[in-house]
Amino acid sequence: MQHRLGDFGQPEGETVTGLEVSGQIVGLGEPGGGGVSGLAVGDAVVAYLSDGGGYAEYAVAPASLVFPLGGLGLRTGGAAALVLTTAYGVLAGAARIAPGDTVLIHAAAGGVGSAAAQLARALGAGAVYGTVSTPEKAEYARRFGYEAVFVREGFVDAVREATGGRGVDIVLDPVGGPTRLASFDVLAPFGRVAVYGEAARHPDLHLPVLALWKNNRTLTGYNIGDLARRDPALLRTHAPRSLSLAASGAVRIDITDEYLLENAAEAHRVLQAGANRGKAVLKVS
Ligand SMILES: NC(=O)c1ccc[n+]([C@@H]2O[C@H](COP(=O)([O-])OP(=O)(O)OC[C@H]3O[C@@H](n4cnc5c(N)ncnc54)[C@H](OP(=O)(O)O)[C@@H]3O)[C@@H](O)[C@H]2O)c1
Repeated sequence: MQHRLGDFGQPEGETVTGLEVSGQIVGLGEPGGGGVSGLAVGDAVVAYLSDGGGYAEYAVAPASLVFPLGGLGLRTGGAAALVLTTAYGVLAGAARIAPGDTVLIHAAAGGVGSAAAQLARALGAGAVYGTVSTPEKAEYARRFGYEAVFVREGFVDAVREATGGRGVDIVLDPVGGPTRLASFDVLAPFGRVAVYGEAARHPDLHLPVLALWKNNRTLTGYNIGDLARRDPALLRTHAPRSLSLAASGAVRIDITDEYLLENAAEAHRVLQAGANRGKAVLKVS
């Protein structure tokens, strides 16, 4: 949605939006498939399209970012490449989750948030808390294994109370602004705030940093597009691990809406209003 709004600028060469797809391979690399190994025409796969192009019947993906469905259905796979890999990368990579860690997830009912709560559990988190904008979303999000889900306004007191004043080891923040700033108030010593979005579209922050070095705390970032450009090999380790957790049933992607491709604008309107829950998919044919 923010790509469409132009928040991230115009990616080089992108003319069609859409960053994650599933489907069948119809062609490989050079005629005859030269240069591509481990994939074959007809394979059912998911792909992360770092340069967009997913809102289409045919998409071109770099072979390094194409993954076998591995037991996932095509529909679930289409909802997985970006959100699951991001949830895994932000937890295991940026936030360096360790067994027993306590995790707070903002936008807990969204596509990445709902997957991240389950992944955190699968990766050994001790307790997982979430914040959302409304009580209705809190009710919805509880199904993903959260210890508790709080309405975002006033989350600092709620998290402190829930953690006996200690705070959490990890905060996942795709929201930004005052939510990001307040997250440091619930960050335990040695804790990590992992930033991976700006959904609320606030201006960037000027952060006080004394509290970070005084308590060994870390502010860290995750960006899948940047990772795909700079270290696709690392991304290639995140994607199959997260996809296999989904295939095993440890993580469930909750597809709440399905739109025909020609109705993509309607899907965007719902996203822009912040009214979506779980994951919406576009059906191409
Ligand atoms: N860094 C990366 O590599 C990466 C990869 C994928 C996604 N992302 C980012 O991560 C965020 C979550 O992605 P997603 O796929 O989970 O999206 P999503 O399902 O649409 O969730 C986004 C959530 O952001 C919250 N939000 C807060 N302020 C909002 C506003 N002004 N307008 C709309 N939503 C608002 C909403 O939750 P509440 O109603 O609870 O506030 C909404 O459910 C997005 O910002 C996306 O850009 C980053």
